[in-house]
Amino acid sequence: MDKSVGKPLNRVDGRLKVTGAAKYAAEFPQEGLVYAVIVGSTVPSGTISKVDASAAEKAPGVLAVLSPEQPPKLGGDPAQRQSPLEPMVHLLQNRRVDYFGQPVAVVVADTFERATHAAALVKVQYQAEKPKLGLRALKAQAYAPKHIIFRPPDSDHGKASAETPAAEVDATYITPFEHHNPMEPHATTAVWDGDRLTVYDATQGVFGVRSRLAQLFAVPPENVRCVAKFVGGGFGGKGSGWGHTILAALAAKTVGKPVRLVLRRDQMFTGVGYRPETEQRVQLKARKDGKLLLLRHETLTSTSTFDEFTEPAGFTSRMLYASEQIATTHRLVKTTLPTPTFMRAPGESPGMFALESALDELAYKLNMDPVQLRSINHADTDPESGRPWSSKSLKECYKAAADKFGWSKRNPTPGSMKDGRTLIGWGMATATYPTMRQKGAAKASLLPDGTVSVAVGTQDIGTGTYTVMVQIAADELGLPVQKVRSDLGDTQLPEAPVSGGSWTAATIGPAVKRAAAALREKIIATAVADVGSPLKGADPKQVKVENGELIAGSKKESFAALMKRQKLPSLDVQADAQPGEEMKKYAMHAFGAQFAEVRVDPDLGQVRVSRFVGAFGVGNVLNAKTAQSQIQGGIIMGIGMALMEESVVDERTGHFVTKDLADYHVPVNPDVPDIDVIFVPENDPYVNELGIKGIGEIGITGVAGAIANAVYHATGKRLRSLPLTLDKLLTTT
Ligand code: MOS
Repeated sequence: MDKSVGKPLNRVDGRLKVTGAAKYAAEFPQEGLVYAVIVGSTVPSGTISKVDASAAEKAPGVLAVLSPEQPPKLGGDPAQRQSPLEPMVHLLQNRRVDYFGQPVAVVVADTFERATHAAALVKVQYQAEKPKLGLRALKAQAYAPKHIIFRPPDSDHGKASAETPAAEVDATYITPFEHHNPMEPHATTAVWDGDRLTVYDATQGVFGVRSRLAQLFAVPPENVRCVAKFVGGGFGGKGSGWGHTILAALAAKTVGKPVRLVLRRDQMFTGVGYRPETEQRVQLKARKDGKLLLLRHETLTSTSTFDEFTEPAGFTSRMLYASEQIATTHRLVKTTLPTPTFMRAPGESPGMFALESALDELAYKLNMDPVQLRSINHADTDPESGRPWSSKSLKECYKAAADKFGWSKRNPTPGSMKDGRTLIGWGMATATYPTMRQKGAAKASLLPDGTVSVAVGTQDIGTGTYTVMVQIAADELGLPVQKVRSDLGDTQLPEAPVSGGSWTAATIGPAVKRAAAALREKIIATAVADVGSPLKGADPKQVKVENGELIAGSKKESFAALMKRQKLPSLDVQADAQPGEEMKKYAMHAFGAQFAEVRVDPDLGQVRVSRFVGAFGVGNVLNAKTAQSQIQGGIIMGIGMALMEESVVDERTGHFVTKDLADYHVPVNPDVPDIDVIFVPENDPYVNELGIKGIGEIGITGVAGAIANAVYHATGKRLRSLPLTLDKLLTTT
């Protein structure tokens, strides 16, 4: 039978999604459901002197108004975190206000409309304080964080060269605040039954939400169930247990009824994370032949006053190119804003815009092709750890993407390529993302009808997890994909990590494979021990599984026939998989090359991306269709980052004034050209037993750089501040 892994199998959940049958967090019906609405602070900083809820409490349908006037009772301390990556949240426990939009009250009513109306009646008085805002204004107060995701903020490898460089770049790049803006807003439906809590939550990590809720309500984790069957986009914004989920559970406990809390689009801009702004200085020095003598990358970025998150923009500079010396720093300023968080390729996305722009500037100074410059500085081993790569196909990616794009026809002179009055620019950048995996478990079950179910407590955040689980299990069990179903998104299933870090397939893929293989062995063992089976007494090693049948020589029996005699509800096995020693021996990264064509209107400054080609070495591709789709999604998000996405803060009020999709622009169909995705064949025996490198984030990493470089090629204008909007193009000379 043909293997399914690698094939462009349609999403197994596709029909549920397009028919509306797929249930998202705010769509689970509940008997007696009531609705909660958050009242956000209208000052960025200060103390609440009074919450007057009298009018709200008298409004029709209102069941309760929660506020710091009578702090709702928690069982655990919100300041106690199980991980420093867990965000600090505000749960109406005290009168402190730390950011504009912070929850200062929660209104619960019998309908969403009545709760919304009553929320408008809550009057809050503050003693306001002046906010601390502005990355550059606060620069003097910048400090080095102790660590960034458990790694040091600064690095310095190699030796300073005494050679006089033939070319140098010393430039500062700026990236703005960005918000994730998934189509599905954050939402929670919380249901208590005695001291047992069930939440249907829009999350990338059901187990993380479970442990947070268990800690804060002082109940055992087994008493909390978190369900996330479908997630309408996350991009990192749904990777943490944010405050509104806990507030929904608090509200449900207070009123003794199931509560639904859905964030409005404007509330998606406060309190559920964002990508912080950065100012990055990149210094490059190179010999005449292009060899780098120095690569220095200094990042300045911001966090909140009450918590610490550092955008690791310099991490990629530690590993992407060979240079005599590589040095990086990260500095943070505390600002009166909510806390930032992980957003698709955190670090790489803004960091590689700076690095890849600087490389392009250097290529022009050296009068060298930018692909050649990158090839000359190819890192044959990991410059940071000195370890060999588990696999690396970057040179093949440069070649495959350049050939497909037609790069050899490029005239490098800026402004030299035109179509009528339209300026055409061709630019490129490298892409990369680390290959990671976590511990994960999976369960596989043979059902009475001879079909198999595989289950993992992970989430499918739109990536295709449901589908690749089916493919992996089908191949192990010799079953057609129609006879395998997958289940996920529930803490009652085997534990798996948050779906982030591009590690979901690399984590749960091997667990599903092992569980399915163990189930195969169990099915065979059951058959050869069954007196009623034609395979009774056969050597288990000689038994094959094919198309739902056990076969030993001329004897065969279907899975269904075996199960019928066994009279069992199911045959089950559970298995887990985790990273091993190989992680310490090899440096593991996926790599790619991205090429953009832009068309620029010279009078209006309007930039359109007209072609995009990316080639990627990402190990084993489990599903050609969903993989291509994920990479295209990353590239589309990169087009948004390059050309339109920006959250604007009013520095007087600490208010994100871009608070809907009319102000915060994301790409729509006319903004997106045909995107060519090439996967170069790559067989990596070290990353995990399925050779998976992960594809959730690499797609976005080189895009902004490639587009900015294409804009320079089209116009001769080097824009070092994202997004590349027409006002910047028209005012840059
Ligand atoms: Mo991602 S930013 O690791 O969900």
